Amino acid sequence: MKLKFGQKDSSREGAVSGVNTGMTSSDLAIFQSLLYEKSGIVLDDGKRALVESRVTQRLRALNMDSYHKYLQFLNEDKTGEEMVRLIDVISTNITKFFRESDHFELLESTVEQWATQGTKQVRIWSAACSTGEEPYSIAMTVDKLVQEHRLDLKILATDISTRVLAHAKAGVYEEGRLDNIPDLLKSKYFKIQQGQGLKLYAVSEQLKRMMMFHRLNFTVFPYPIKGIFDGIFCRNAMIYFDRDLRTKMVREFARLLRPGGLLMVGHAETLIGLENQFRTIKPSVYQRLNDGVDC
Ligand SMILES: C[S@@+](CC[C@H](N)C(=O)[O-])C[C@H]1O[C@@H](n2cnc3c(N)ncnc32)[C@H](O)[C@@H]1O
Repeated sequence: MKLKFGQKDSSREGAVSGVNTGMTSSDLAIFQSLLYEKSGIVLDDGKRALVESRVTQRLRALNMDSYHKYLQFLNEDKTGEEMVRLIDVISTNITKFFRESDHFELLESTVEQWATQGTKQVRIWSAACSTGEEPYSIAMTVDKLVQEHRLDLKILATDISTRVLAHAKAGVYEEGRLDNIPDLLKSKYFKIQQGQGLKLYAVSEQLKRMMMFHRLNFTVFPYPIKGIFDGIFCRNAMIYFDRDLRTKMVREFARLLRPGGLLMVGHAETLIGLENQFRTIKPSVYQRLNDGVDC
């Protein structure tokens, strides 16, 4: 894509030295539209400080002294790698183990029900998995059922950010990040590691064996995924997108979920107005309908 550089604003040159002197409105507008186009993330003018400080991280890493030069570099980078790095620093990756815990309780009872009805294969997608706390929480939730019912269970974990995906794949967390995990699960599924004076916890191979990690960008359709899921977790990502992208995403989720399968969104999110292929089980939990017929 060709970037259109904004007019230079002589009062605010957008220079970055030791102290950030500010981004011009025209450069801000370019970052906003570029990031919207490449990631779907809507950054309104109220996010100026966030955009400035995160983009400045990239300038420092590249030893550059102006946003304008950085935009030029981004435009000329045919590998697309710098765009990936920019999205990495812009995206908000806040997450925690067993966040919105009612979803995991419901997952456990539902998978148990499927297993007792004879289901042998279960596929779950953690879409926007961030640093991995969500897919590993799913794995801890279902592992007992996997053993009891000899289930073939796999979890696909995807995110747009290569940085968080690398963390998720490594599966190593600082002690404070495990606060939400019951002690029993902590001792069963984590091994203590010492690292740089910190107490670190590494996820067990048993959980890792259930996982597949891939980069996936919600704005690129159709999603390059083979197979059909029994459950999709897409939580606390759609809040960053506009209605148009959310509608297209929900359509893709409907295509990739089997009838009767579950879609969990974040507690602050809803499918209202987008949900004609789903029935609401409770706020933030939806079930895929069978061609408009209740399952
Ligand atoms: C706040 S985290 C949510 C993590 C987890 N699902 C949870 O609820 O705790 C949002 C994630 O969405 C990812 N994301 C943002 N834009 C995306 C896009 N266009 N495609 C895929 N993932 C995206 C971010 O990288 C980030 O890791």
